[in-house]
Amino acid sequence: MVPFISLSLLFLLLQCPLPTLSTNSEGNALNAFKLRLTDPNNVLQSWDPTLVNPCTWFHVTCDVNNHVTRIDLGNAKISGTLGPELGKLKHLQYLELYKNELSGEIPKQLGKLKNLISVDLYLNKFEGKIPKSFGKLKSLRFLRLNDNHLTGPIPRELTHLKNLSVFDVSNNDLCGTIPVDGPFATFPPESFKNNRFKGPELKGIPYDFGCGKS
Ligand SMILES: *[C@@H]1O[C@H](CO)[C@@H](O)[C@H](O)[C@H]1NC(C)=O
Repeated sequence: MVPFISLSLLFLLLQCPLPTLSTNSEGNALNAFKLRLTDPNNVLQSWDPTLVNPCTWFHVTCDVNNHVTRIDLGNAKISGTLGPELGKLKHLQYLELYKNELSGEIPKQLGKLKNLISVDLYLNKFEGKIPKSFGKLKSLRFLRLNDNHLTGPIPRELTHLKNLSVFDVSNNDLCGTIPVDGPFATFPPESFKNNRFKGPELKGIPYDFGCGKS
């Protein structure tokens, strides 16, 4: 009798954790993100990776299925880099990391997060190129990358983002020409100011005109 009971218990245990395992992977991704950061004000103190999911952590929001939908760490005095693990937060809608000291490249893996509505990385120290993979973020409405050290041209893939309504790359080191197609027909000139752009895109001029060979 006793072995029978423990066998059925084992069965239950094996079957139950499956849904929570998938949320744990999001907790693991967030913990990997935390480990790359320096956090002088201990804003990530509540990020305890031993909890079953990250939904009680401060600055993290989940949906009813315990999937992470928001990271709100704007103006948090954090420094460090972003890594590919953020690409595992499949349900993320809002990535709010503005006004910090974050540096390094923007991971191309963010382009896997099909539910992203808002990516706010402005007022940091990001460098390198705007990932082409952002052209796959069909839900994206807000993309604010202004006041960083980004280089290279604006990827033309971004012109496919029909819902993109707020776009700001001002105060970077971007080069080439400014797209005019799709949502780019509506963005104001201020969104592009203080870069190395050669003007609007024109037929016959390469989009990376003036970027040099690299
Ligand atoms: C784009 O916006 C429309 C109108 O708000 C919405 O119905 C649609 O779902 C959005 N598309 C995507 C891919 O998010």
